[in-house]
Amino acid sequence: MINESMMDNLDIDWIKNRLKINGINICTLYYAETGSTNEDAAREIKKMDFLKNALDGILVIADKQNSGRGRKGRSFFSPEGTGLYMSLAVPYSEELIKTVKVTSIAAVAVAEAIDELIFENKNVTGIKWVNDIYIYEKKICGILTEAFMPEKERAGGVVIGIGINVYEPLCGIPNDLKNKAGYILTKEAGEINILKYEHGLRNSLAVSIIRKLLGYIRINENYYDIYKQKSILIGKYVYINSYKDDNNNETALVMDIDPECRLAVQYDDGSIEALSSGEVSVVKKQM
Ligand code: BTN
Repeated sequence: MINESMMDNLDIDWIKNRLKINGINICTLYYAETGSTNEDAAREIKKMDFLKNALDGILVIADKQNSGRGRKGRSFFSPEGTGLYMSLAVPYSEELIKTVKVTSIAAVAVAEAIDELIFENKNVTGIKWVNDIYIYEKKICGILTEAFMPEKERAGGVVIGIGINVYEPLCGIPNDLKNKAGYILTKEAGEINILKYEHGLRNSLAVSIIRKLLGYIRINENYYDIYKQKSILIGKYVYINSYKDDNNNETALVMDIDPECRLAVQYDDGSIEALSSGEVSVVKKQM
């Protein structure tokens, strides 16, 4: 029987303390409901001095977002109680925002944490360049990173926004997302799963992701090999959706992920390009 105390409620103090034990000092904000945690984190950067407060980061977590934001101005479906919606702001660094580094690091941290905590270290997650996480051909996590340059009177920051569909939403998945979006655990699997974690899955996931993320940022640990090994695009034909033109239907074959985590593609005319930004979608019928 599952009682109230076993429910997977978010507990920001527990997250903060767990991170502290691991030598990570963050300031935290929790909302039962907010617009977008990325916007909240961006606002906090303006008020906070990372250096003066010896802070590794500012973490904003919400149980529900009313205007969760995705890439390319899209919205991110963020229903109550079943997802993990969080934004971690870290001090600004040119090195971090270079090419796709910070987004690739975040993707690896999330994918590894999910494999370890939920799938007993089996390699279940895949990364769709740049930073979508897939399980069983459905997207279960999106990441939106935004950089804020330092200005005269204040330090800048980089906001890493992570949205994970942990459990099947109680309200179901909207029709327009059904073919693409998924979740990690069904309602039934979620109920069994709740008993496995000392303090709930969502809290444990948050701690694990932040530890890994800051680890990769701090000591520049090798994340590239994992990123490449988890890539679900190598060898596939994709449509190149450039930022300029959403309806661009040019196709290319994905040859490789290079050490900068750029996508190396070959066009039909034989030319090769290393993409460092943009978005691609898999051609359903592979040629
Ligand atoms: C995408 O899939 O295009 C990126 C989605 C990013 C969603 C997360 S949820 C937490 C944070 N707050 C937001 O408004 N967006 C990010």
